[in-house]
Amino acid sequence: MSNNPISQFIAHTIESLEAKNFVRLALFNRRDKNNTLRTASAKVISIKKGERLSFVLRHQTKDITQNCMFEEVGSLLEAMFANDFLQADLFTLSANYYLTISPNGTAKLRIGPATETMQPSLSHDKEKARLITPAENTYLYRLGITTSEGKVKNDMQDKYRQINKYVEIIDGVLKSVELDNSFSVADMGAGKGYLTFALYDYLVNVLHKTPSVVGVELRKELVDKCNTIAKESGFAGLSFVEGTIVDAKLPKVDMLIALHACDTATDDAIFMGMKANAKVIVVAPCCHKQIRKQINPVGNLGRITQFGILKERQSELLTDGLRALIMEAYGYKTNVFEFIATEHTPKNVLIVGIKQRELATPDPKVLEQIADIKKVYGIEYHQLEKLLEKGI
Ligand SMILES: C[S@@+](CC[C@H](N)C(=O)[O-])C[C@H]1O[C@@H](n2cnc3c(N)ncnc32)[C@H](O)[C@@H]1O
Repeated sequence: MSNNPISQFIAHTIESLEAKNFVRLALFNRRDKNNTLRTASAKVISIKKGERLSFVLRHQTKDITQNCMFEEVGSLLEAMFANDFLQADLFTLSANYYLTISPNGTAKLRIGPATETMQPSLSHDKEKARLITPAENTYLYRLGITTSEGKVKNDMQDKYRQINKYVEIIDGVLKSVELDNSFSVADMGAGKGYLTFALYDYLVNVLHKTPSVVGVELRKELVDKCNTIAKESGFAGLSFVEGTIVDAKLPKVDMLIALHACDTATDDAIFMGMKANAKVIVVAPCCHKQIRKQINPVGNLGRITQFGILKERQSELLTDGLRALIMEAYGYKTNVFEFIATEHTPKNVLIVGIKQRELATPDPKVLEQIADIKKVYGIEYHQLEKLLEKGI
């Protein structure tokens, strides 16, 4: 074998394909930061004409799939290392290979013990509409989403759709931020861990990241169960801790998520994300009691909120609208949108914040707008604002 680490890496890739112990390949760390091609990953698929190495080339706004014959793999990888990527990880059943190329062309190859114990299925899932597929993902079975045959249970279809949609949105958000390959995610109010597991699976097995994901949850029995399933699934970077959101001890949070954390638990989650200076905050709020209790609008607006359902809707609008504005005041670019059709869950609003700027003090103009809105609706305080009063 050649002494050149790049050639050695390519040779190990081809060898593992021939020996049928190839698991997956990930290419990342762009040579040119302006290149729209951000990462690439490859797995073996079986099509009518035989086995192929199927590359997913992840560009800024789209993914392109390129299937190549094994004999073409060498030249394709050579071109990718020359033009596109400075790093690659090869996972086989016998060893892992980590290639690093410095911009001046010096390359290093590190060989480590295998971390993958199973090969993915070779099926070419063309019609795959979901990012998280039921087949092969035994954690979905352990979580009670699929049957032992790998079919989504009838009563879990909505949950399954919801986590897929959520993962899809996070995937889109990730395309617009630069995060290290080993970024940290905190899922606040993780509950039974459906989203936490799905996101971890997607980040590791589809995007080939090496994230650490932690779920924070009040209920001990859920935390214990999720930790057991994470262990059984070989998800080494996924863990769950028992406790309240505001008391969670998190060393670093790049991305904070919270799906349906009840009432002000969503504010606690956003606050913890801001406090940790998270680059990304994604929350799907749940009930909106805190603001509802306070709404007492001035003038004729009270004629509208006299109707219970409209007061309810108004409290949702205000709670989430103010959340988005408060985040904006602290340097986040925010967006609020529906993430799934209401037939699957009525709690379908998503607030996404991406940190844009560091501010020494919150933007006074936005704070003034918030104060105006609160005045009109007779709102004394918003929980997120109250938490932020203590400083971050
Ligand atoms: C509606 S469930 C959602 C669970 C999960 N995120 C999902 O969407 O499947 C909300 C979870 O948040 C937890 N929770 C509520 N308030 C919390 C707090 N302050 N700290 C930690 N967990 C909390 C609850 O115990 C519950 O499991």
